[in-house]
Amino acid sequence: VSRNTYSAGIAGTGRMAKALGALLARSGIPVSAVGGRCLRSAEDAARFIGAPHAVPVSQLPEYARHIVIAVADDAIPLVAAELAAAGLTGGIVLHTSGAAGPEALGVLRAAGNSVGVLHPLQTVPDAERGVETLTGATFACAGDPDANAWAASLIGHLGGKALAIDPQRWQHYHAAAVMACNYHMTLVDAALELMEIAGLERATALEALGPIIRTTTENVLSLGPERALTGPIRRGDNGTLHRHLAALQDGSPRTRDLYIAAGLRTIAIAERVGLSTDSAGEMSRTLEARK
Ligand SMILES: NC(=O)c1ccc[n+]([C@@H]2O[C@H](COP(=O)([O-])OP(=O)(O)OC[C@H]3O[C@@H](n4cnc5c(N)ncnc54)[C@H](OP(=O)(O)O)[C@@H]3O)[C@@H](O)[C@H]2O)c1
Repeated sequence: VSRNTYSAGIAGTGRMAKALGALLARSGIPVSAVGGRCLRSAEDAARFIGAPHAVPVSQLPEYARHIVIAVADDAIPLVAAELAAAGLTGGIVLHTSGAAGPEALGVLRAAGNSVGVLHPLQTVPDAERGVETLTGATFACAGDPDANAWAASLIGHLGGKALAIDPQRWQHYHAAAVMACNYHMTLVDAALELMEIAGLERATALEALGPIIRTTTENVLSLGPERALTGPIRRGDNGTLHRHLAALQDGSPRTRDLYIAAGLRTIAIAERVGLSTDSAGEMSRTLEARK
């Protein structure tokens, strides 16, 4: 990892802009200015980061030719257009969104800049916590060669891990992140719905599920899905599936659909660790029949 210490400009004044800016400043990348659409927010972010200037986005290129854009996803092309209109050329620009690949900065590329993505594979609920959770985090990057090199250098300074993604496959990467993070909530929420039907208060149910959720997460991370899998599908227990499906008539249709879709996917995992083809077929038919 090259250790170039170009100073950086930050476009954006929200939690990611503040947390990432503050961490870069601490790790030896001077943040020369913060650009925002509202000057007060920019001043607030500049104070948090320890940057000497707060300016409108259009003035950012006067302070930095290396810029990280951390604004709301929909605003990324607008901010990119503002920077291009302000005459930024020969620079390097990264955005921090997982939802879009480097093409969101196409207007800046057309203006002669090297563009890419620097996506923290981590959740930042507020700037203060972001400073902690982004330290040593994994960052996915994709983009033009100079943009990739700068991203690698920033990640090196932050003590993070770099994950290089083919820009053509960016949406596969992001869908994976959404499944691992957001859809984890979805499964827990469906479990809570069923716990409520079983007579438990939601809060009590969530607390009760704490140990099994934590252990399961630890197990899947240390053992992988195949070895961590337990339960009726792993054992080939078709009768249990029948009883669950009958009980799920009391749940919402979405919960039933989710149970069936997750079950079919789980059979495939169990087959990789020895579930017989006969058992797999029998359980698949049980689930498919209720679709
Ligand atoms: N938070 C996370 O967990 C997380 C994780 C990974 C990646 N990201 C990415 O980081 C980026 C920033 O997210 P965030 O969580 O920091 O959001 P946030 O706290 O809601 O901040 C959004 C920022 O965008 C600015 N903005 C919106 N429209 C703008 C415009 N037209 N021109 C200039 N600035 C504009 C807002 O400015 P005002 O204050 O003026 O409204 C605000 O500073 C997003 O691309 C997001 O996908 C976030």
